[in-house]
Amino acid sequence: MSTLLYLASGEYRPIYEDLPFDHVILVDRKFNINRIINRPPNSKVELIEADALQAIKILKRRQGIKIDCLVSVNEGLFGGGGDYPIFSDFLLGYISPILADNLKVVTDIQYYGAAQIGKKVAKMDWGFSSQRVDSDNPLFIDPRQFTVYGNQTGADYGDVFILNRERERKLLPLNDTIETAIVHGSIWEDEQELDMMGINLRERDYPRGRYSINTFFERIPMVYNIHNRSIEEILAYAEENKVQHLGLTPWMNNDYQQVMDVLRTYAPNHLKKLTFYHLRRNDFNMFYRLV
Ligand SMILES: C[S@@+](CC[C@H](N)C(=O)[O-])C[C@H]1O[C@@H](n2cnc3c(N)ncnc32)[C@H](O)[C@@H]1O
Repeated sequence: MSTLLYLASGEYRPIYEDLPFDHVILVDRKFNINRIINRPPNSKVELIEADALQAIKILKRRQGIKIDCLVSVNEGLFGGGGDYPIFSDFLLGYISPILADNLKVVTDIQYYGAAQIGKKVAKMDWGFSSQRVDSDNPLFIDPRQFTVYGNQTGADYGDVFILNRERERKLLPLNDTIETAIVHGSIWEDEQELDMMGINLRERDYPRGRYSINTFFERIPMVYNIHNRSIEEILAYAEENKVQHLGLTPWMNNDYQQVMDVLRTYAPNHLKKLTFYHLRRNDFNMFYRLV
């Protein structure tokens, strides 16, 4: 079964019944009831009325779900109801376990350009290799059908990418008593085998902030906010909680000298495994120099 997920979709529209996917999931904080009543009884389009993060949490509980196509073209960042970009590291890392290894992404880089994050979004640098697909490629899917905003009538509206997962794990020669590794991929893919997940939840600069991203993550029992914490503090907290496998995501602005120095001589009480996870290729450069 193939599934398309459209985050911050806006209203249901009958054209979504014709998309070349078996199942189409629309997620929005609010659907207009008058538009939903047009939905045919055997509709393949499912609506989840929730914030995107909350909807992903719901979807992750479903056995065997895999998203083959992820769509986000305009989440109303300029006063249209959106208070954070869907293509944010925290959201992409969180959704990663339910994305297919070979994934199609439909977006509009120009829209994100106006939000000053166009270049970052265009890199699609979140643990996948990416390739842009043009309209003459059979894998292309027309982004214009996903929006009623902006210049969607322009022939060059939107962008389509094909992504392939690039997850890789390497051992780090840092400490003989703790198995230390680095993974290019999301920490959320190992949620089941970790005892504690250290996530850098810094203060967000989304002023409208109706939805508290930090609160969402802090409510997840295994999550520990490592923002502004030293490696000594993090290790002490982990030991206090008898953590055996600790996962950490980037938090030191690319300077991990102190982290390496501490780990080299660290004698653990409970800790057996330490894994660093990163999405962007350039994160944790200092660790890769050890490999
Ligand atoms: C300007 S409208 C655009 C709708 C649609 N993407 C389009 O281009 O036609 C933005 C929509 O995104 C929804 N939205 C923004 N951020 C969201 C989030 N984090 N979770 C769920 N819905 C969100 C808003 O409720 C609003 O309906």
